[in-house]
Amino acid sequence: MSLSMRRVLGSRALRPPLVRTLVSMPKLIPEAVPTGSTQIFRTVEEVKRWRRPQYTCHRVIGLVPTMGALHEGHLSLISAAVKECDHVVVSMYVNPAQFGPHEDLDSYPANWDSDLEILAALEKKLAKKISAVFAPTTKEMYPFGFPGQEVDSKGSFVIITPLSERLEGKSRPTFFRGVATVCMKLLNIVQPDKVFFGQKDIQQSLVIQRMVDDLMVPTKVIVCPTVREPDGLARSSRNVYLGTRRRKVAKVLHDALASAKQQYLNGRADRSSILGSANGLLESTQATQVSLPAEERVRFEVDYVSFADRFTMDEVEEVDPSRGAIVSAAIKMLPVELATPGEDVGYNGGPAVRLIDNMILEPSG
Ligand code: PAJ
Repeated sequence: MSLSMRRVLGSRALRPPLVRTLVSMPKLIPEAVPTGSTQIFRTVEEVKRWRRPQYTCHRVIGLVPTMGALHEGHLSLISAAVKECDHVVVSMYVNPAQFGPHEDLDSYPANWDSDLEILAALEKKLAKKISAVFAPTTKEMYPFGFPGQEVDSKGSFVIITPLSERLEGKSRPTFFRGVATVCMKLLNIVQPDKVFFGQKDIQQSLVIQRMVDDLMVPTKVIVCPTVREPDGLARSSRNVYLGTRRRKVAKVLHDALASAKQQYLNGRADRSSILGSANGLLESTQATQVSLPAEERVRFEVDYVSFADRFTMDEVEEVDPSRGAIVSAAIKMLPVELATPGEDVGYNGGPAVRLIDNMILEPSG
């Protein structure tokens, strides 16, 4: 099928017959990309050139958008993509548009060489190739100039409201505008059949799902479960900033959300039981920490604890049994006040670190 035909008809409606065709005549379809080492693309043109023959070969293309600094969370998405797709493109691009003017863009823990090593090790483990890494420059992604990080910056943006204004969007007003815009660019460049996101950033996944549905992008959004450390803390590129002392206390975020979910599993579906449980644990941990001497304690602020609809993230009073709900929270781990000699306070001097996490309360009806 030609690209123009696909654009006119939309790929979703055509996917089932396409799959049947693939199953019935696999030998007639040549492999378009010779297996070899992962290709590195720096320009949009290179990706498009690689992508073009895949249409005629009916290859299923998966895209995993990342900002690099790969960890197990990213790898779970790539593994899922490799399982479900013929070709997987991993994008690695630290998108300045989703950082506020005062956020940690410059110190974002990117490490190109180790990321490539991690991908090579994953390929070995899966015994399957990752077809390409797309790592563009900002000039390539914003060919008419980077529009800026301010709320009133002018440029071509994708804005998904009201979802983007809630929760994460409240404290980071340009964040989802930056995410939606860069993801739309990536979807237009790679034109994947499937795109993979993590539940860890649930609001981000919902913004992208809404964008794809509303703007009729012919790509299926797949959300993969959150990968956690053994104590429950969600894996995140930002965890390296924590250092030993704050890392131990950071698990409270998971524990608070898990206790809220437990209330639901125990049969409570109302706001006060569910939020009461999470807030109770956060408050008691804060009280314990405050009572410790400065060289031992960890200070954190609770940005929000939310009990919201499963798709709109509107705050709710009760779990709708047919839709389910999401309990989510954000906390800000403040820098260590008084470090002990030789203490590991975290990467880049242990700045304040904002952590987010969530649990899904599955529908029951
Ligand atoms: P980044 O933070 O690098 O995350 C890339 C993807 O990995 C996102 O879909 C995120 O939800 C997923 N992820 C991160 N930690 C995870 C974990 N512990 N378990 C499962 N999945 C996890 O999110 C972004 O980059 C950017 O906003 C991006 C979408 C690339 C747009 O710039």
